[in-house]
Amino acid sequence: MSHLTLFDNGTHRNILLEDFASGGLAVQANQHLIIDGNVGMILDPGGHKVYSKVLAATTGLLGRAKLETIFLSHQDPDIVAAVNGWLMTTDATAYVSALWTRFVPHFGLDRLVESRLLPIPDPGMELKLGASTMKIVPAHFLHSAGNFHMYDPVAKILYSGDLGASIGQDYREVTDFDAHEKYMRGFHQRYMASGAAMQAWAKIVRGWILKLLRRSMVRCSKAKR
Ligand SMILES: [Fe+2]
Repeated sequence: MSHLTLFDNGTHRNILLEDFASGGLAVQANQHLIIDGNVGMILDPGGHKVYSKVLAATTGLLGRAKLETIFLSHQDPDIVAAVNGWLMTTDATAYVSALWTRFVPHFGLDRLVESRLLPIPDPGMELKLGASTMKIVPAHFLHSAGNFHMYDPVAKILYSGDLGASIGQDYREVTDFDAHEKYMRGFHQRYMASGAAMQAWAKIVRGWILKLLRRSMVRCSKAKR
């Protein structure tokens, strides 16, 4: 299954990369790439099992554009374990919650690249990408204690990380949300901290008009097989 272009206005592109999951024990996770002009950002690039394939696909899609930013929604290995490779092979800067900057180095971060792992403060922040500005939205305890989503106001896409994750379905795009809900229930009952955290998050995003809601992990926000 090849990559999927979610948005393209000629200068700004949002791409869901090909699913490189091996089908083994390792949980499947989506990788998203955003290219604005001559710079790019990868979201939750993944772990070592998919690293070389994701890097090759990203390099191909970037073309002459340069990878500038690595956004890490939280600290889990399925999205962050290969961050040392990404920092060693590119000049990109990685961003993760300030709660996790002392923990992510345990994935083998080389001292040479430590200065390019920067903290996201609890309230969130904005990240420039070419002519655009991405909004980093707090989503703490959904499911990590230091957890962020990213909203792209150009494409009107909210990358919601593990929020919306699902397990067990055999399709890539959700066309019947009611029928799909059963695949999400178990993950959310166990991995999401509380309804209070969900309500706090909903308050932040409720006012936004989302023309397209895509999640950063396949089959809704994340598909875990
Ligand atoms: Fe996670």
